[in-house]
Amino acid sequence: MEGGAVALALVPEFQTSPGMRDILPPESARWRRFVHVFAQLAQGAGYGQVVSPLLEDLGVFQRIGDATDVVTKEMYDFVDKGGRHVALRPELTASICRAFVQHRPLTPWKVWYTGSQFRYEKPQRGRYRQFDQVGIEVLGADDPNLDVEIIALGWEFFRALGLQKVTLLLNSLGEPSDRAAYVAALKAYFEANLQSLSEESKVTLQKNPLRVLDSKRPDDAALVAAAPQIAEFYSADAAAHFAAVQAGLAALGIPFTVDSKLVRGLDYYRHTTFEYQGGTLDSAQDALGGGGRYDGLVESLGGPPTAGIGFALGLERTLIACDDEGVFAAPASEVDVFVVDTTGGLEALQITAQLRALGLSADRAFENRSMKSQMKGADRSGASYAVIIGSNELDAGTAVVRPLRAERAPDGEGVQFTIPRSDLLQYLQKALT
Ligand code: HAM
Repeated sequence: MEGGAVALALVPEFQTSPGMRDILPPESARWRRFVHVFAQLAQGAGYGQVVSPLLEDLGVFQRIGDATDVVTKEMYDFVDKGGRHVALRPELTASICRAFVQHRPLTPWKVWYTGSQFRYEKPQRGRYRQFDQVGIEVLGADDPNLDVEIIALGWEFFRALGLQKVTLLLNSLGEPSDRAAYVAALKAYFEANLQSLSEESKVTLQKNPLRVLDSKRPDDAALVAAAPQIAEFYSADAAAHFAAVQAGLAALGIPFTVDSKLVRGLDYYRHTTFEYQGGTLDSAQDALGGGGRYDGLVESLGGPPTAGIGFALGLERTLIACDDEGVFAAPASEVDVFVVDTTGGLEALQITAQLRALGLSADRAFENRSMKSQMKGADRSGASYAVIIGSNELDAGTAVVRPLRAERAPDGEGVQFTIPRSDLLQYLQKALT
């Protein structure tokens, strides 16, 4: 059929791989602003940016924990041309710890980052194979006040975007020995009730009993609800650390809910863990970000015993939450001035260069199009002013200035005027700044 043939002809040979997306303007401008807002907050709190490689030795990421899906199922790993087994990073915490061990910076080392991560997941809304994060990590400071500073920074960031529905979940996994005792108790509990556990959770139980607590399956709900609680296993130090974190958050007026089932998907956590929930997405994708303490990770990468804590926030998921709440819209992509030149294009070349040198944004048409077509381009550009150079203006050394927006046209929208070319830049600079 004709329609079908047309549709087929329109399908390009190459498209993005599943779970990977092109971010086009104006959405890309929103991404830039997102990172800018985060960077301002982080820099303002004494964090410096680390730019890490996209690719590391696979072993770096294996330290995240071999009981996690991220390591066992989702890694983009391959052997490079030099025979090294490498992987695209699935997250940045392990890379930051590797960098710490490699460069031995002074502590506390307070850093922030942004960039793409790769996980071979089943793509759906808010879950991609390439996704972006912003995050912070602090290495070398074991102080519950730092946990509070970090959690508060994430909280402030969501506020800065305008999000109102984000909630904070908090938990502590205790000392490694507390956690180990808890895992053993959980395992015994679930094994004693194996007949009531879903088939999927039976598999999870063999790999990581903690992750069974994450099960969203209705048939597991009753058993998970009655499972032993981590708080029963806290050492005195772990309990004191957790109490101090809660007191700090209360002092800052940050509301939180203690969720003893918050175990998170990565294995390196101990003591504080936390998650920011968006409140608008499906529960499996509702975590906008999360983090916690990972005091043993640096050591497992060959460094000295070093305290560590941080978080990462998902850029795409957070922007979906912004859409759902109707905040942090994409900025309008507008230039200040659009130059229309029907004399061949050299005038537009010069005027746009001069305007840009003055710090104004300027665009123009190419290919010597008709006046009508160039004016359409001017309208589409969202410019405040069109500058028009035709052969009359070129001969007379003048330019026509046409305000394109009502607020720029005191004499009425679309009312244009002619000024000497020598006054043009000064006029526009004054009008636009
Ligand atoms: P995570 O919980 O694996 O933690 O990821 C943090 C955030 O990244 C998630 O809450 C989510 O918003 C986003 N995210 C994760 N996977 C995907 C995906 N497939 N598609 C879209 N967004 C995704 C970490 O990555 C830890 N490194 C956080 C951390 C830092 N812990 C301590 N320091």
